[in-house]
This record gives sequence, structure tokens and C-alpha cells, in this order.
Amino acid sequence: MEPSVLCPATVPSVERKFHVLVGVTGSVAALKLPLLVSKLLEIPGLEVAVVTTERAKHFYSPEDVPVTLYSDADEWEMWKHRSDPVLHIDLRRWADLMLVAPLDANTLGKVASGICDNLLTCVIRAWDRSKPLLFCPAMNTAMWEHPLTAQQVGQLKSFGYMEIPCVSKKLVCGDQGPGAMAEVETIVDKVREMFFQHASVQQS
Ligand SMILES: Cc1cc2nc3c(=O)[nH]c(=O)nc-3n(C[C@H](O)[C@H](O)[C@H](O)COP(=O)(O)O)c2cc1C
Repeated sequence: MEPSVLCPATVPSVERKFHVLVGVTGSVAALKLPLLVSKLLEIPGLEVAVVTTERAKHFYSPEDVPVTLYSDADEWEMWKHRSDPVLHIDLRRWADLMLVAPLDANTLGKVASGICDNLLTCVIRAWDRSKPLLFCPAMNTAMWEHPLTAQQVGQLKSFGYMEIPCVSKKLVCGDQGPGAMAEVETIVDKVREMFFQHASVQQS
């Protein structure tokens, strides 16, 4: 779906849904983005939007993603004058929960060290840490087992972000071992749990 001229943060919603912002990075597990989004949309009361890196675009077709999809060009095309929206800030305001799935080694390293050179890493750098941020690492076993990975995952957890751990299986590259993104079902279950927690806090 094409990005709207008005970003969702500026659109008043009659019935306020729970806003899930999915970040997708250049892991082969980005192939699962259409499935992930369609499963999230099966949860009543959820609204979903996606922020993609340029590399992630290689792994899915935008027409298979039935929600608004934002990328770097939107950020820069939207801002021409002083009063124009700054997309990464509007998106962090709009979102009630951020889910980065898959989180590849490159973006993991950037986020752990504060680098914010694209729309997705800017949203994360500006993230309101009172809201949940879930991340699903996905990478080759050799990358996963490098000591940098545990350090960087630990860094993200120290910010209060929640890891949905990778799993061990035969990877697309043929290697067998840890590093594969968690199953879509596991990820959707975790989002559902966070949504229910949020709803029960709102009611109490
Ligand atoms: C076919 C292919 C599959 C890849 N899969 C992964 C992966 O699963 N995990 C990972 O960390 N990097 C993977 N990469 C490398 C990333 O795409 C690369 O580091 C890229 O710069 C990530 O950019 P981004 O973090 O901005 O999306 C893959 C690259 C290719 C060509």
C-alpha cells in the first residue's frame, strides 16, 4: 500500500486501535513480512504500518503487504518546509508498540551504538522507552555466534527492549544452527500478549 501524504500520526481515528509499527531489515527472513503482517491483522483492534530499510525491499513485493509501507524516500519527500511532518517523529508518536522483525546484524549493530542513518534507525533512536519495543534477530549462525552479537543484543535489552530469540534450524544459506528468526506464530503471540497487557492496564 502506498504511503499516505498525511502520516498516520496526524489522522484522527474515531475508534482508537492499538498501533503496531513493524520494522523490517535486510535479512532473508524479510521474506516472511507479508505473512507476519497478515497474521497481525487477524488480531482484532490492531492497526499495522511498516517501516522498511532499502535492503529489506529485496525480499518482498510491496503489493503483498496490505498496510502502509514507509521507506527512506517518504521521510525526505514529506519534509519540504518548516511546518511539514518529520516522519520518524510522527511514526514514533503514532506507534504503541514497535516490532523489528527481522532485525539483521547490520541494523542490530547500528541500533546498539546509536547510529541512525535511515528512517527505521531514526524511529528506533527516537523511541519512547515507556512503550514496548520487540526485536527478532535473524542472521547466519557464524554472525550469531560472533561475540559482538551477544554484546549488542545485551545492549538493546539494557534499554528495556524485548528479544524474541532466534531459533536453530537449517538456514536458507544451507548452514544448520542458531540464527533463524523466531517463527511468525511465536512473534504474533508475543504481540498479542503485549496488546492484551496494554488493554488491561487501560481498563484498570
Ligand atoms: C541474500 C541475502 C540474505 C541476507 N540475509 C541476512 C540475514 O539473514 N541476516 C543478516 O544479518 N544479514 C543478511 N544479509 C546481509 C544484509 O542484507 C546486509 O548486511 C545489509 O547491509 C543490511 O542492511 P539493513 O540493515 O539496512 O537492512 C543478507 C544479504 C543477502 C544478499
